Amino acid sequence: MANTEFLFTKLNFIEKSPKEMLATSEDLKTNLNKRRTIRTFSPRKVDKKIIENCLLAASSAPSGANKQPYNFVVVSDPKVKEKIKVAAEKEEESFYSKRASKDWLEDLKPFKTNSKKPYLTVAPYLIAIFAKPFDIVDGEKQKNYYPIESTGLAAGTLISSLHLSGLATLTHTPSPLNFLNEILNQPKQYKAMILLVVGYPEEHTEVPEQGRKPLDQFSEFI
Ligand SMILES: Cc1cc2nc3c(=O)[nH]c(=O)nc-3n(C[C@H](O)[C@H](O)[C@H](O)COP(=O)(O)O)c2cc1C
Repeated sequence: MANTEFLFTKLNFIEKSPKEMLATSEDLKTNLNKRRTIRTFSPRKVDKKIIENCLLAASSAPSGANKQPYNFVVVSDPKVKEKIKVAAEKEEESFYSKRASKDWLEDLKPFKTNSKKPYLTVAPYLIAIFAKPFDIVDGEKQKNYYPIESTGLAAGTLISSLHLSGLATLTHTPSPLNFLNEILNQPKQYKAMILLVVGYPEEHTEVPEQGRKPLDQFSEFI
């Protein structure tokens, strides 16, 4: 009997000329390399539709068995942002004063970061990114595959999409991040991975001077 449940459709592959491919890859290299993490945000509003579009772009990332095992919780409510700030600063205070190793603190020096996170209430959007080890379908747990890898890929796609749309981000990871589960009513098994801060940079934003590794230091062609 023919299997009619699992249909295939023709791939919509748009072939580019070698010249176009080279030009596109050059543009991407240039434009994506302009992305920088910022730590001073403007309160300027951002159209929610841009966030929605970028989330849909992020959901195009490959995921284990196409389960899309993640939840992006977009926070713009000032009261919820305040709760997140209070909880994040508490974790960061304990990190900077007790838990961080000497080496870690040394590595963080160029960024001039500390336990204070004023941007958490200033930036228009915080996106809490959770990896979901399972989904609940009709009251039943359904296992997901590669939730961490899939969520990381979607998060990277989101960051690039926001950047190419004209917004700036901070990948923030106060550790542990599980205070987000409580504040945002997420099941405790969902793993909070990143608190992405999104918005425009404050007018005089500066970023640490730093380069990126040359190709031969992070890749090999065999
Ligand atoms: C997984 C991850 C966690 C990070 N956590 C923090 C953080 O908690 N606080 C912070 O200020 N920056 C954080 N960053 C930002 C990095 O410091 C930044 O990406 C790196 O210095 C490279 O700079 P760039 O993003 O401007 O290229 C994090 C980045 C990643 C990928």
